[in-house]
Amino acid sequence: MRVLIVGGGVMGTAIGCELAGPGLEVTVLERSIPGAEASTAAAGMLAPQLEAQAPGPMLELSMRSRGLYPAWVKALTADSGVEVGYLESGALQLAFTEAQAHELEATVAWQQAAGLRASFLVGDEARALEPNLSTELVAAALFPDDHQVDPRRLMQALTGAAARRGVRFHSGAVRGLLETQGAVTGVALEGGALTAELTIIAAGAWSSLLPGVGVDAAHLKPARGQMVELSLPAPPLKHVLKSGLGYVVPRADGHCICGTTVELVGFDKRVTAEGLASVLGAATRLCPALEDATVVSTWAGLRPWTEDGLPLLGRGPKPGLLVASGHYRNGILLAPITARLLGQLVRGDRPTVDLTPFSPGRFTSR
Ligand code: GLY
Repeated sequence: MRVLIVGGGVMGTAIGCELAGPGLEVTVLERSIPGAEASTAAAGMLAPQLEAQAPGPMLELSMRSRGLYPAWVKALTADSGVEVGYLESGALQLAFTEAQAHELEATVAWQQAAGLRASFLVGDEARALEPNLSTELVAAALFPDDHQVDPRRLMQALTGAAARRGVRFHSGAVRGLLETQGAVTGVALEGGALTAELTIIAAGAWSSLLPGVGVDAAHLKPARGQMVELSLPAPPLKHVLKSGLGYVVPRADGHCICGTTVELVGFDKRVTAEGLASVLGAATRLCPALEDATVVSTWAGLRPWTEDGLPLLGRGPKPGLLVASGHYRNGILLAPITARLLGQLVRGDRPTVDLTPFSPGRFTSR
């Protein structure tokens, strides 16, 4: 069977890696370089507990994916020879006011009740763990099982492993879906076509621009995230830090990836003065030692925002069409579980996660 995956980001390439093997001829179609958009713009936080607002399907999906990470990256490294910077760093959410400290206490309480490891630390306890934290800190929540990966290296490993497993990469821009007797049978390209028995749309924020996918631009939008990479001679931190929208992801080599903004400004990847000021302001507030860091680079990525914050996973509106998009702020984290679930759907197995909350048709069928 021929399977065509539209989009060569972390999702499309991970699905390609999962599907490659006897009986399936897999092609990943990418209009640019694999991973050139949101996938390599990401910081690589593998942090469901740091991001979670409440128990629910998103937390469950994220926890399943985090659990898959160690074995998944080990296999990718074995197949590609690329080490992906998977670091079991743990994460700290920081509170700078008493009100934020109370919120953190409540978060730790519901996460502990849900059986997750989390602890509440007063400012001095957090600083004993991370001496470079701000002295303004009131309290912190420690999530020892939230970690990180380097998305740029992960993309190299994924593309290398995919090629080694027999996935073909095709360069081209999609004009529309091909249909035969009501079923999707591939895509029309500028100057050609690719046919397949199954077409999987994994084009991130661009997925809604493809007519026939059944996801309109009101429900799936690009959400710009501005980012800054800083470097110091030695890592100033061990843990991933977060407070509000601001975060710092410390790599092992002294580089720190700092984010972010969340801006619904269309397909505009500019880095703005206001965005940079906000990202740098947050990073240096979390860790004042970063004030002396060198600015290595700045960039922005377009995450696939969905109206309810949940990804779109499952069957499209026509036979022959599957969708894996809308992962918003959690694409890197959710790649292994998405690949596994899409593999189950393609093979006709029962998905090991209930996909009802993630149905790609949920907005239009309401
Ligand atoms: N999850 C990180 C971000 O959205 O920037």
